[in-house]
Amino acid sequence: MGFYGTAVLPRLLNATGSAEALGPLRRRVCAALAGDVVEIGFGSGLNVPFYPAAVTRVTAVEPSDVAWRLAGERLRAAAVPVQRAGLDGQSLPFADGSYDAALSTWTLCSIPDVATALTELRRVLRPGGTLHFLEHGLAPDDRVRRWQRRLEPLQRRLVGGCHLTRPIADLVTAAGFTVTELDVFYQEGTPKVTGADSLGVAVAPPMPAAH
Ligand SMILES: C[S@@+](CC[C@H](N)C(=O)[O-])C[C@H]1O[C@@H](n2cnc3c(N)ncnc32)[C@H](O)[C@@H]1O
Repeated sequence: MGFYGTAVLPRLLNATGSAEALGPLRRRVCAALAGDVVEIGFGSGLNVPFYPAAVTRVTAVEPSDVAWRLAGERLRAAAVPVQRAGLDGQSLPFADGSYDAALSTWTLCSIPDVATALTELRRVLRPGGTLHFLEHGLAPDDRVRRWQRRLEPLQRRLVGGCHLTRPIADLVTAAGFTVTELDVFYQEGTPKVTGADSLGVAVAPPMPAAH
């Protein structure tokens, strides 16, 4: 990754992700988090102010050192301990079943092998643990989808590999989760091609029965 990817893009994402209008969405996706939480694509910690009191500890997974540094002030003000312990959502250095909940916001679009990342989340969640997601992806309307397909190559080049056409809920389901809550909507103030959001909760499957 060049200077743009390592130094400029994390600052751009920190600035755009700090928009006040995103606060209510971040509050919604974080509201039901509880216990020991892993957050992938932690970025500059923009969800930290929205962690509810029921969260006891957060493990951050984030490849960008610059984004992690930008999180400094929010981490110092955090009400719960947050530790960075992983760099890649595709390969989580944690034991099976070690988390109560997982959080991912606007991150599944840019992880190269998203199916592997979701399988990893399922693995590190305890049976019945919950994945809380807020992601942009494939739009509900054909006309918007056509533009998403046209613009995706440009978006991927400019925004760190970000895909526009990932079917978020289908990917979560394909990884073995059961989606229990889902709201699909166009984000206000954002072009529909990049603002087709899926906000939801999915449950990790129970342990297979012993024979
Ligand atoms: C659009 S930003 C979102 C950041 C933050 N979740 C938010 O809501 O503001 C996407 C983040 O995913 C991170 N990311 C990219 N590839 C990743 C990977 N393989 N594993 C984990 N995080 C990754 C990027 O460094 C970036 O911080």
